[in-house]
Amino acid sequence: MREDLKRAFEQARLLHNKVCELKANLRNGNSLIRLTGPGLCGQKGVALSFTANLIMNSTNNNNSMTRRDALKKTILFSTSLLAVGQFGRLQAREAVTGFPDKGIHLLAIGDFGSGNVNQAIVAGQMAKFAKKLGTPLSGVLALGDNFYKQLTLERFAVHFEEMYSKEHLDCPFYACLGNHDYGPKYDSGQGRDKAQMQLDYAKDNPASRWKLPAKWYALELPDAKNPLVKIIFLDGNSIEGALTPQEKLDQQRFLEAELKIETRAPWTWMVSHYPMFSESTERGDNLRVIGQWGGHLKSHPISLYIAGHDHALQHLEVEGYKTSFVVSGAGGAGLYALKESTRGFAKMIYGFTHIHVTRDKVDLQFIDAKGNCLHSFSRTPDGKVEIASSSGS
Ligand SMILES: [Fe+2]
Repeated sequence: MREDLKRAFEQARLLHNKVCELKANLRNGNSLIRLTGPGLCGQKGVALSFTANLIMNSTNNNNSMTRRDALKKTILFSTSLLAVGQFGRLQAREAVTGFPDKGIHLLAIGDFGSGNVNQAIVAGQMAKFAKKLGTPLSGVLALGDNFYKQLTLERFAVHFEEMYSKEHLDCPFYACLGNHDYGPKYDSGQGRDKAQMQLDYAKDNPASRWKLPAKWYALELPDAKNPLVKIIFLDGNSIEGALTPQEKLDQQRFLEAELKIETRAPWTWMVSHYPMFSESTERGDNLRVIGQWGGHLKSHPISLYIAGHDHALQHLEVEGYKTSFVVSGAGGAGLYALKESTRGFAKMIYGFTHIHVTRDKVDLQFIDAKGNCLHSFSRTPDGKVEIASSSGS
């Protein structure tokens, strides 16, 4: 099979379970698969919203489909728009640090507050990457579970200020709150006081990189005058001892109001500790969060939904949603097992996320603790998603 078709096939496999089944057929039989259809061999920027025919020329394999059956087989890519990029390689590679276009750079980490060696290793790699990037970061999205176990003032110094290089990560860390940031039943018994300490630390230390102005808030980056991205941070906690019923109501009103406000930013994202969709074996998709906010994703042009909570790196494209779903919960706490994804990329590994934002494109890459880019993709404002590279799920 031609290399470009192989790559296209693998790209498609990342996002569609039917293609996975066909891949299995390919593995099990001495079969030739030829894929045709607009976009499959496309160049960068060509959408893969197409109907592709699969022709399987079976040789001596009784389990394979007959040619006639194969001709009937049709794969319909209904929602995800993908293209084979100019960097269409299917293995990990060194993280990209050269970006010719101007714009802003952000990192994202979740579930980092373990205070252990894994947090330190990821933090160290974030600093190395930022140094190589050679351009100031506009921010780090801190996706919750910022401090496991008992929170003390000293930990802000040791497990935040000193943990993340002041020299190379000299930018605001915009935080949201996870379940462990309330700690009513998990590990500290501090309840709402634990969240309040994080709010107070931000308020009392305006010079600190730690930014948590409220349990839910919105901001535009790089600034409100000429924004590239509007980010809405939400508190997805439903656990007892976290948000009060009144707070939940207030947040919902805030979200609905924010989504009505016109922004000049070409991109709007939602950030919360809790993923809607996840391939973790223990939790999987979160029906509560889907029910709470999924409708907003469908009715508003929200390009990214970024979360943590499940300790892994994931990029999922989910049927029925135009949003790309990112889970970056691999900042230090113990990793979670994953099932093989039929919706995109999912890897049980420590690391963080880098996002480059311009008016025309968002580039996102997952970077592991050794500095390898495990998976990267880009989105254009019209919703086309292009996998630039991937080490598979
Ligand atoms: Fe969590």
